[in-house]
Amino acid sequence: MSDLKATVTETTTSSGHNGFHVEGYEKIEYDFTLIDGVFNIENPNLADCYKRWKRCLAVTDLNIYNVYGKQMEKYFEHYGLELKIHKTKIGEKAKTMPTLLSIEPVLVVGGGLVTDVAGFACAAYRRNTNFIRVPTTVIGLIDASVSIKVAVNYGNYKNRLGAYHAPIHTFLDFTFLRTLPKAQIRNGFAELIKISTCSHLDTFNLLDKYCEQLIDTGFGRADGSSKELIEAADKINREGIHEMLKLETPNLHEIGLDRVIAYGHTWSPLHELVPETPLRHGHAISIDMAYSATLANGRNLITDQEHRRLLDLFSRAGLSMDHHQFNEEILEKATAAILKTRDGLLRAAVPNPIGSCTFLNDVSAKEMNAALRRHKQLMKEFPRNGEGIEAYVDASDTGYTENAKMAEESTLERSAKKAGALNGTKGHVETPVINGACASKTENGVTGKGMNDHLNGNIKAMASVHF
Ligand SMILES: NC(=O)c1ccc[n+]([C@@H]2O[C@H](COP(=O)([O-])OP(=O)(O)OC[C@H]3O[C@@H](n4cnc5c(N)ncnc54)[C@H](O)[C@@H]3O)[C@@H](O)[C@H]2O)c1
Ligand SMILES: [Zn+2]
Repeated sequence: MSDLKATVTETTTSSGHNGFHVEGYEKIEYDFTLIDGVFNIENPNLADCYKRWKRCLAVTDLNIYNVYGKQMEKYFEHYGLELKIHKTKIGEKAKTMPTLLSIEPVLVVGGGLVTDVAGFACAAYRRNTNFIRVPTTVIGLIDASVSIKVAVNYGNYKNRLGAYHAPIHTFLDFTFLRTLPKAQIRNGFAELIKISTCSHLDTFNLLDKYCEQLIDTGFGRADGSSKELIEAADKINREGIHEMLKLETPNLHEIGLDRVIAYGHTWSPLHELVPETPLRHGHAISIDMAYSATLANGRNLITDQEHRRLLDLFSRAGLSMDHHQFNEEILEKATAAILKTRDGLLRAAVPNPIGSCTFLNDVSAKEMNAALRRHKQLMKEFPRNGEGIEAYVDASDTGYTENAKMAEESTLERSAKKAGALNGTKGHVETPVINGACASKTENGVTGKGMNDHLNGNIKAMASVHF
């Protein structure tokens, strides 16, 4: 939602020509609700958003529909809302725009691909169509849905056509992770290592303590997860998202280029695409983060002990720290490419110490190459020479893989049923429910219990996010 306040003044140039000066501030506000069981009929939060229209147009990934479609239909039927579901089969290779026609907010349910594409369609349709987001992957929950960026690929370029378009509401339901493949969970785990290493030591400590369990249980959503693990997972996610919002809301339009959340994103945009089969994004940024840590250790910005602790964490998570094609030539090319997008400065975020960060601008090619040689040497001490598990994209990332009916019924639907049973009142955690009703300009009070994280980032960008 935005509300532009602008003034117009008449101007005269020194040459005597008349003109106008426009100065405006756009107010941006949007809400997040942490809720296990968004489609559980006991949770009216989402239905409340559609009450006034009596209907809902949803866009979702076919795989998500196959698993959660019936639950969605039941949910909307229970609340007397007509539901129309547009099923997409979007893969990275076909990340293009579907046609959407809607006046009420479009409900977008899926991973980062679906929320990016449908979000962009909403930004473009009538220049501004509201949407509500329900992310279903780790990347979606803790990264893509935290930002207001939406985009589609164009030509050979990733995310070349895009917009800054905030959804009016985002429901963060981690029970979707029960059915998400482990390789995708690991991929998203990398972004949590990123944010915590450079900005939140408590979260880093928790990731370090529970690493394997978090990945194996879909952040404590699988059956049999201990209360301790569930609490740790919820703390990680809540604080990770909160930290990201605090860092990024003053810079929603990414005008500032020194970005803590760009740790791991300096050399990775190029080397992600170097192998014949591209690396998964989480693995590409992990290589960058691990190498950056070696660089930082060479400058004594992190101790040997911290360096080893960080490398061990990537290794335990099965994330990549190196790739045999990551060499001096790639480093040089990637440096040249990032200097262009970062206005001539490297601005490489590195931990200093773990939990906070420093930006490096003065790294010579000699220092970079020496750090790379040392990094490769160190990698010999790690399993797989520092290469990751399921590090490369597969058809589910690039094209589109429809989950086989058998697999769907035997594993996914079973898990979904269990997820349904777990939802809401039977949920295992006291997840704070914020903003019971859907947000609107006049209706954005915080009503959740135990929630002292209410964010109000009314700073430079005049943005406020209700988390
Ligand atoms: N806007 C942003 O700020 C931002 C940030 C990060 C990433 N992205 C974009 O996100 C995209 C990647 O998104 P992603 O990593 O979420 O992948 P994705 O949306 O492609 O989902 C990965 C796979 O998991 C399946 N899936 C999704 N949820 C599931 C669930 N709960 N259970 C079972 N299967 C499920 C999907 O069908 C797909 O096969 C990229 O295009 C990237 O550019 C955007
Ligand atoms: Zn990223």
